[in-house]
Amino acid sequence: MTQKTAAIIGGGVIGGGWAARFLLMGWDVRVFDPDPEAGRKITEVLNNARRSLPGLSDVALPAEGQLSFHDTMSAAVTGVDWVQESVPERLELKRKVYQTLQEHCPHDAVIGSSTSGFKPSELQGCATRPEQIVVAHPFNPVYLLPLVELVPSDKTAPQIVARAKEILTEVGMYPLHVRAEIDAHIADRFLEAVWREALWLIKDGIATTEEIDNAIRYGFGLRWAQMGLFETYRIAGGEAGMRHFIEQFGPCLEWPWTKLMDVPELTDELIDAVADQSDAQSGMYTIRELERARDNNLVTILRGLKAQDWGAGKLLNAQDRRVEGAIGLPDDLGKPIVTVERAVPLDWTDYNGHMNEARYLQAFGDATDRMMALVGCDAEYIATGGSYFTAETHIRHLDEVHAGAVIRIETQVLNGAGKKMHVFHRMYDGARELATGEHMLIHVSLETRRASDPAPALAATLAKVAAAHAALPMPEGAGKAVGVKG
Ligand SMILES: NC(=O)c1ccc[n+]([C@@H]2O[C@H](COP(=O)([O-])OP(=O)(O)OC[C@H]3O[C@@H](n4cnc5c(N)ncnc54)[C@H](O)[C@@H]3O)[C@@H](O)[C@H]2O)c1
Repeated sequence: MTQKTAAIIGGGVIGGGWAARFLLMGWDVRVFDPDPEAGRKITEVLNNARRSLPGLSDVALPAEGQLSFHDTMSAAVTGVDWVQESVPERLELKRKVYQTLQEHCPHDAVIGSSTSGFKPSELQGCATRPEQIVVAHPFNPVYLLPLVELVPSDKTAPQIVARAKEILTEVGMYPLHVRAEIDAHIADRFLEAVWREALWLIKDGIATTEEIDNAIRYGFGLRWAQMGLFETYRIAGGEAGMRHFIEQFGPCLEWPWTKLMDVPELTDELIDAVADQSDAQSGMYTIRELERARDNNLVTILRGLKAQDWGAGKLLNAQDRRVEGAIGLPDDLGKPIVTVERAVPLDWTDYNGHMNEARYLQAFGDATDRMMALVGCDAEYIATGGSYFTAETHIRHLDEVHAGAVIRIETQVLNGAGKKMHVFHRMYDGARELATGEHMLIHVSLETRRASDPAPALAATLAKVAAAHAALPMPEGAGKAVGVKG
């Protein structure tokens, strides 16, 4: 694959997040931002991204791309595949930026704007090539949240929209094609309504910032993260579903519950109330601490959804399959087989920043599952009624493992005869050996739940690997009892 490059024009909160996402997905990134602090700010965002994004994936991500800073926009955009504009939300400024960058960037590069509110036709106003510009509106933190609202105008070229979708998917995002351009797109329009109601509740002295946040995060916010609004309401309608829900609750929209389109005046008094209450609620944390807490929580939620293959978790699983491609036994069986290569996710670590004991077993269990699949005991085989069950496990912890470390597990088959599969896994970070896991598995019939012989093709493949691995030295620590060194 040829190396791809993105130009980030404006490297603040959002531009920094885009830079991190592209870099960690293997793209080279060139930044143009006149702020002398831009380098420091992006490095901080990048550090947050490095500790959280790679662990979302259960497979190895591509090697990180090259990051460079440029003094001119022309140097940043020449020859790139994607330009992401994330300068402050001022139309005149954005238009000026497009004029300059279109003098230098390739005609077929996608120019995406992070704008939260402007329509693409407004942005395209004075552009030389309006067909190249599309709104690509992300959500903070851009390196963790998959959603991008992709909003073309009728001047945007269909091939730019198609290319944008392809590239956003490649970097692990979900492009939501907004078919009609409207102010504030879809999600921010929705958030505006919630924000407006929250300001009324504070202004009217009904609730504080903390009470409003609790009303969200202890209840419907959790539902929204996994099913959104309509699927949640469908369930709320009971067996009669959505129709019944609307009949029951629709009429209350006419009751005076909401302030609807009235916006509370942002008086000094209201601004003070919001800011003071927010200080009382969260002033004990720095913004960086809050960002880290947010990222830890998001990773934990996203990985939970991944285990359920649902919502944003389903997207992540699809991304893993894309990144990994087809799997198969290596041609060279004269060395142990790499069965796991991944970053240690934030939710695998304890309060010391170390990998939890249970996660060693999970990582070695994943390695065993991969070994089984490689010799032919995959989902299809298991559906025919046979599988391996683990009978015995011995794990040795040799060195510390921290969140974000890229671990690699190499597996040696010590015995693959008859009903047995005896494997020895070694976990590494680079050349440093972190742990070993030795497992004895027995082939069972899923019908009788008793030991049984594997199918001939599986037995033959396993025997071939075991025979090749028999020529390797016996790994240090293999077959040792607990407490026996060496
Ligand atoms: N903050 C959010 O939550 C959020 C979410 C989605 C989209 N957006 C959108 O992203 C865009 C940027 O917002 P932000 O929150 O990152 O703002 P920000 O103020 O954090 O960053 C803007 C950056 O642009 C730089 N800049 C100013 N003029 C420039 C120029 N001429 N060329 C290059 N860089 C220039 C500034 O130095 C700054 O670093 C806005 O359009 C905003 O609507 C923001």
